[in-house]
Amino acid sequence: MSSGHDEIALEEEFARVSLKRSTLRRLAAYLRPQRKLLLLALFLEIVWVCSMLLEVHLVSLAVDGPLASGDVTGMWWMAAWLVGNIALRVVLTILELGCSTKAGTQIIHAIRQDVFDHVQRLSMRYFDRTKQGRIISRADRDVETLEHLIMWGPIILVSLGFSMVLGFTMIFVQNPRLAAWFVPAIPVVWFTTQLFQKLGFPPYRRQREAHSGISSHVAETITGVRVVKAFGAEARELSRLEAMQRTYRQAVLAGARIAGAYIPTLSITFQAVLIAIFVLGGRQVLDGDLRIGELLEFVLLLGFVLGPVQGLGGLYNESLIAGAAAERIFLLLDTEPEVLDRADAVDPGRLRAEVEFDNVSFSYDPDGKAGRQLRNVSFRVPAGSTVALVGPTGAGKSSIANLVARFYEAQEGVVRIDGHDVRDLKLAALHRQMGIVLQESFLFAGTVLENLRFVAPDLTEEQALTAFEELGCEDVLAGFADGLLTEVGERGANLSEGERQIVCFVRALAGNPAILILDEATSAVDTHTEILILRALHRLSHHQTTFVIAHRLSTIRDADVILVVGVGRIVESGTHDELLERGGAYANLYAEYAA
Ligand SMILES: Nc1ncnc2c1ncn2[C@@H]1O[C@H](COP(=O)(O)OP(=O)(O)O)[C@@H](O)[C@H]1O
Ligand SMILES: [Mg+2]
Repeated sequence: MSSGHDEIALEEEFARVSLKRSTLRRLAAYLRPQRKLLLLALFLEIVWVCSMLLEVHLVSLAVDGPLASGDVTGMWWMAAWLVGNIALRVVLTILELGCSTKAGTQIIHAIRQDVFDHVQRLSMRYFDRTKQGRIISRADRDVETLEHLIMWGPIILVSLGFSMVLGFTMIFVQNPRLAAWFVPAIPVVWFTTQLFQKLGFPPYRRQREAHSGISSHVAETITGVRVVKAFGAEARELSRLEAMQRTYRQAVLAGARIAGAYIPTLSITFQAVLIAIFVLGGRQVLDGDLRIGELLEFVLLLGFVLGPVQGLGGLYNESLIAGAAAERIFLLLDTEPEVLDRADAVDPGRLRAEVEFDNVSFSYDPDGKAGRQLRNVSFRVPAGSTVALVGPTGAGKSSIANLVARFYEAQEGVVRIDGHDVRDLKLAALHRQMGIVLQESFLFAGTVLENLRFVAPDLTEEQALTAFEELGCEDVLAGFADGLLTEVGERGANLSEGERQIVCFVRALAGNPAILILDEATSAVDTHTEILILRALHRLSHHQTTFVIAHRLSTIRDADVILVVGVGRIVESGTHDELLERGGAYANLYAEYAA
């Protein structure tokens, strides 16, 4: 809900400043590559408007010519001209639709690619701070909002503007005396439109807000459906939705009432103008100053002038909404990833993966107001060793792993891999050689094999089978209905938590990582299997450095070095036997664990 509020506030703020010039300039940059198509579409639209005006003129000619004189052949000719003119418009419309749709979809394609690409490059800290729903709404809904305006905005603008200017010129050229009577109608229409837009904005805002609330409520309830069911909270969730729907309905109705008042007001103005013109024009006809066909043409031309006023109002409204969407998209694109490749970043090639923390202090909050989560952490682990991080929940074990993976960067001190400051390494090169298995294992919808190929695209089925065997997990694979081709479901929901972790494990190893990070990666696996896996890992691990975070201390006894983490610092380090002998924090932990 609150994300909806923030977003609406943001939207309103943007709407108030109207379309910023910088936003238009940036949008124009996306339009530029498609300018040929867009210009062609605009040209076709202008021809289309001319054809509409021609039609009006033809009707007037028909009335004053063949119709007045009873010339049947002449009427047929006129009809033929009119039909030809309509056929021309059909062709124009088809061509124009093709051009603008092609240009529009290509522009949106480019924007969507840029947004997605950028989102993927943003740093963890951004995802910590920003609600998922909001990021998704930027990447998806905002782009869609923009789509309609980009495809049709310029065309509608030119079309309406052109028809207004041309219509206006023509009525003045044809009958200045009559045209002068119509001028007062213009400000009336303009101000009415403005007034109703102002009145309409608050209900529109409430409607958006309620809508956003409903969407996130539905999404949340579906994501958390297990919790809802487990606590029997269905009725409560339903009545919460009902309340939101009521607000939404009221806002829509309020908006509809305003729109409902607007349309008659406008049409009354139009009718009044028409009546005035008919009376005054009728006098001119009776006086013999004006022919009936000319009066008819005049009245029809008025439509070309007054009609667009309403259309332009709507376009203005839409451009504010789309402009706000564009602002939000650019805001996202302007968010710099905090962890970035330096200009002179190097690709270190295959890492041996000696890892060193040199007096590292780190806080998740860049301002450091929330206190530091790691303080003066120093250690060095040789290439190919297995390092266990143990300590209480919230001590900072995962934070250490996050810094090794360079999901975040330390504010003080240096993290080195093979003697390079990690900040000097190319991120892509580093992450390619990193295998990570987390407690919340995440699989993509698809088969087990497809998930493994996410990391190693060329992995064969045999290699995949071997990978399971090497880990000692072939039994787990055998338990899957279709073996490697088992569909894991969305987020891997068709597998048990432990099975998911094992697939994640194999996936991490499939990439042949130089650094393997296991953050409570076997927490959902039974102790027997966990020991099997870690032992297998130990066997396999001579060409990789492994960080293991595990709570069952029995599983990490074989580690080459155990780092004991107490609130933000390393309190002890050594092998299992050394630490037991010392009788310190680890010995206590172990005693508790073994008890
Ligand atoms: N993304 C985050 N943003 C802010 N604080 C965090 C974040 N992740 C962890 N913390 C905080 O950092 C501290 C250490 O957490 P963590 O390293 O995850 O502990 P653990 O040893 O259980 O893995 C905790 O106090 C935790 O609340
Ligand atoms: Mg953790």
